[in-house]
Formats: sequence, structure tokens, C-alpha cells
Amino acid sequence: MKFSKILLLLVVLAMAFAFTGCGADTSALESQIAAAASKADAAAAAAEDASAAAVEAQAAAAEAMAEAADAKAQAAEAAGAASEEVAAAKAAAEAAQAEAEAAKAEAAAAKEAAAAAPAEEADMAMGEKTYADLTVCYPQLGAESDWRTANTASFKQTAEELGVNLIFSDAQQKQENQISAMRACIQQGVDVIALPPVVEDGWDAVLTEAKDAGIPVIVVDRSVSADESLYDAHIGSDMVVEGQRSADEMNRLLPDGGKIVELSGTTGSGAAVGRAEGFRQNLNDNIEIIDSQTGNFTTAEGKPVMEAFLKKYEGEIDGAFIHNDNMAIGAVEAMKAAGVEPGDIKIVSVDGTRGGFQLMIDGWVQADVECNPLLGPQVMEMALLLANGGKVEPKEQLTNETIYYPDEAEELLPSRLY
Ligand code: AHR
Repeated sequence: MKFSKILLLLVVLAMAFAFTGCGADTSALESQIAAAASKADAAAAAAEDASAAAVEAQAAAAEAMAEAADAKAQAAEAAGAASEEVAAAKAAAEAAQAEAEAAKAEAAAAKEAAAAAPAEEADMAMGEKTYADLTVCYPQLGAESDWRTANTASFKQTAEELGVNLIFSDAQQKQENQISAMRACIQQGVDVIALPPVVEDGWDAVLTEAKDAGIPVIVVDRSVSADESLYDAHIGSDMVVEGQRSADEMNRLLPDGGKIVELSGTTGSGAAVGRAEGFRQNLNDNIEIIDSQTGNFTTAEGKPVMEAFLKKYEGEIDGAFIHNDNMAIGAVEAMKAAGVEPGDIKIVSVDGTRGGFQLMIDGWVQADVECNPLLGPQVMEMALLLANGGKVEPKEQLTNETIYYPDEAEELLPSRLY
């Protein structure tokens, strides 16, 4: 009951009391007392599940009612009513008062419990969403690599553990499929869209549609070229830094310079663009990139690209910068077939997958620059924050990464998660 209502009730009671003068109106009195008792009951019931503030209001109401009944009993006594009636009225008023006290005590306990409850439960009391209320759309770009498989598993497993409803799809490396999946999710009114964009450009229209529908978007892994006002956060690797680190390793491996080839990732993807840019920024002047072709981040496409390089530049290639471990696996197959020995061509690869670690153990890869796919937990945390009206700050969230070397590969391989 609201306090304004309680006040109104008290005023009405006072007026009724003044109007009836000093008469001992026991039936009115009984119904007042009954009302007080039922308020106290309601307060006790509410204490079991409602917020402490609501319970407190109920207890205050019950107490006010009991006080009113008590006042009325005193008035009846002053008016000289029959002593049994007065005694009954007083006893009932006392009982109502006792119930009000009990309700107040329960309110205090409920308040204490609410203060001690974890933040998530407090949020629930305030009507905020929990993971179990969340529907997150993840239009995965494809299944091109072991990195991607690990990324998909991270999202599915995290969603299952947290109870998030995940709408997952596989766009098979086609931007139009990702856009269609996003539009379906917008139509469905999901809480949050997490987008791992296959390429950087061409997202403005669908991001605007999501924004207009009030659906927050988290860009995951690769970046988009769209204005950052069109999405709420980006979480992933700094692809330019990965390229710079790869160049530093190539400089170390070819101190006297040499000729190298580049097996690039998907054309137009943030990963390929950033890695190529960073690599060129740090590469020593005495190292020449004699060719660069895409292998689309897959083993199947990486192999023929390296086959062609080996034919075209026979005996000339000193090193290879390969944008991911799966293409490195394909490239090594081609090198083996062409009679190249491990270490003849220095390879710097990216990702740090088990496959990459095995290539290091076998002597083919000399440095593997880490790119972390296990983004599910962080993305779900961001999604919950955004679904409850919060902001991700800073908008750009970069993952902490390292470089792996052959001398530690054997020891680390068993503990690799992907
Ligand atoms: O965008 C991350 C890249 O995409 C990974 O390096 C690669 O393996 C994946 O396919």
C-alpha cells in the first residue's frame, strides 16, 4: 500500500472518529482491526519474496492501521462504553500491533538479505535482464579454419553454460549470407547481435537497420570500416600489431635480407588488411616481398598458392609470411611435395593453433604470432551489459596476445585449447 493511501486512510479514520463523537462503535472498530490484521498478514507474505522497500511500506501501513484502531479503542473507553467491549477492542488492537511489529522485523530481515545478495540477484529485483533472458544472434562468417572452429565452440559453450539463447548461423564466408542472417535476427527482435564480419566494407545499411530497431551490435574479431556510431563495441585482436610482430620475426630470421612471399587471408577482411599493413610497416628494407596471393585462410586454398610460388620462384624464396596456421599447413604440404626441407624457407605464421604448434615442432614454422579466438565469455558479458542499457567503454576492446616459438612448442602443445 502506498503511503499516500495510508495517510488518506488515517484522515478518514480521524474524520469518522470526530463525526461519531465519543460513541463506542465496536462493529466499525472490529472491521478496522480486521483490516489492520490482514495488512499485517500481507506484509508478512510480501516479506518472503518482494523487495525490502515494498515490505517496509506494507509494515508501515499495518502499523498505522493498528494505531488507528488503538486510538479508537481509547476513544470508546473515554466515551464510557461497556467495559467488555472496550477490553475486546483493546486486545484486538494489541494483536494487530504485534502483527505489525512482526512484519516490520521481516522487512528488516528482507532488507538485509537484499543487501547481501550478489549483484545479479539485486539486478533481478530491479527488473534487469539476466543471461537466461538474453537472446544473442551470432551470424558466424564460416568454418574456414581451426581458429574459426574454436571461436564457434567458444560461443556455443559459453551460451550453454550461461543459459543464453544463441541464434547461430554459418555464412560460409559470404557477406550476403551474414547480412541475411542479421536481418532475420533484427526481424525477430533479438537482444544483441554479435557480428564477426567476413570483410571490412559494406556493413553500413544493415548496421543502421539494427540501430533503428534498437538492437545493440558488438563487432567481433575482425573490424568493419563503418562509422563507429553504428555499433556499440568491437572486441578482437589488433591485426596491425600482429602484422608488425610477424615482420619483427621475419627480420630476426633473415638478418641479411632476402626474398619472401606472402600468403594472405581473405581479400578485404580486417585480418588480412591489418596484417599486411603492419607487416609492411616493420619489415626491414633488405627484405623484398616478391609476391602476395590470397589463400582465403584455408588449408585447401593455401596449398595451390604455395605450389604456384614454388614453381614460379624456384630456388629464390627465403621466407614466407603466412596469415594463418591453416594456410601454413597447406603450404607445407606443397613444400614437402616440392622437396623443400624444414627451415629452407623461413615461415612466420599467425594464430597459435595446435596445427601451428605441430608445424613448429616439426621444424617448418619458426614463429607463430598468437590470435585468440576464445571470445565467447567476454562477448556474452558485454551483451548482458548492453541489453540492460549499459555502455562498453572503451568501445574498442583488444585481446592480449603473444608470440610462440619452436623451443616451447612441445611443452605447450598438450595445454593448447584450440
Ligand atoms: O579473423 C581471424 C582469422 O580468421 C584467423 O587468423 C584465421 O585463422 C581465421 O580464419
